[in-house]
Amino acid sequence: MVFGGIDRIFRELQAIKVGDLMEVETAPLMFAVIFDPVAAKHVTDHRLARRDTLRGDADRVVAEFPRGAITLKSIWFPVHRDRATELPIWDGEAARREGNPTRTWSRHVVVDPSGADEPTSGAIDELIDGVHHVPLDAFIYRTLTSRDEVLAAQRVARDPTLAIGDYVILVGMHISTKEIPDWVWTTVWWHDRPDEGQYAAGRPASLEGAARSYLLDITFSANQRDGTPHAMMNPYLEARFPDGVHSNCLSCHRRAGFGTLEYLPVTRGDTAPDDPYFADKVQTDMVWSLALEAR
Ligand code: HEC
Repeated sequence: MVFGGIDRIFRELQAIKVGDLMEVETAPLMFAVIFDPVAAKHVTDHRLARRDTLRGDADRVVAEFPRGAITLKSIWFPVHRDRATELPIWDGEAARREGNPTRTWSRHVVVDPSGADEPTSGAIDELIDGVHHVPLDAFIYRTLTSRDEVLAAQRVARDPTLAIGDYVILVGMHISTKEIPDWVWTTVWWHDRPDEGQYAAGRPASLEGAARSYLLDITFSANQRDGTPHAMMNPYLEARFPDGVHSNCLSCHRRAGFGTLEYLPVTRGDTAPDDPYFADKVQTDMVWSLALEAR
């Protein structure tokens, strides 16, 4: 663990300011940030998770992560082992000015963990009153097995009844891989009709089981070829931001820097290296958790 602390097993989506109101996510979405061994070693070797390192950085930019580094942001949703759970589903609704938090989404599925011991085909075909009822193994999921995990999940989901033996299902994941200097930005999210639409295209036939139920999008840049801003987001994380539906991973992560308190509002397009925005910051090679953790 790069940062340590059981409070980082699951974390809550931050409350954000929308106009004069605070927007608080009402669904029990929980996230975690994970560094692969290459990325973690880089953070440790250069002492990047430490405030004094970043504060004293005369170059105003940290040592670049090595090729092969991977960072992840996983998004989990708790499911009681003895009860059906409603999961909001994103169908690409029009952007609302105040953002599109999950409670505004028009559809949900019911995740039914009964029969979790008998593997199903992962097929999603049961419709009850127009609502898909989905078995647990249509998701990548795991069982809560330790007290620390349960405590973290109880706190973030605001659900004191979660217990050892309950599940967390993976509803989405952000993946950044340092294959190119600006990283490659990939995101996946669960959908009950994973074979429809542009985000279903190109899924390799070799993917099996629950992995086939996730849609995927990927980007290498903040702009499209014609120079106009490119939108690319994960509905479970970014749709709730004002203009989040039009957000772009790289556009926001470019601005990751020690000395920044805010990653919002959503910006579009790229920020140039000589932009005054960077003048009072130490850039953290596009890794936000470093910038925020050390503040
Ligand atoms: C408006 C800003 C914003 C946008 C847009 C955004 N992110 Fe992030 N991202 C963050 C912040 C802030 C964190 C740090 C969370 C924390 O540790 O509190 C983060 C964390 C991450 C992490 C963990 C490593 C790190 O940088 O801390 C990954 C991987 C990631 N995001 C990928 C993506 C991908 C892929 C997309 C696009 C689909 C995306 N992000 C869109 C703000 C953004």
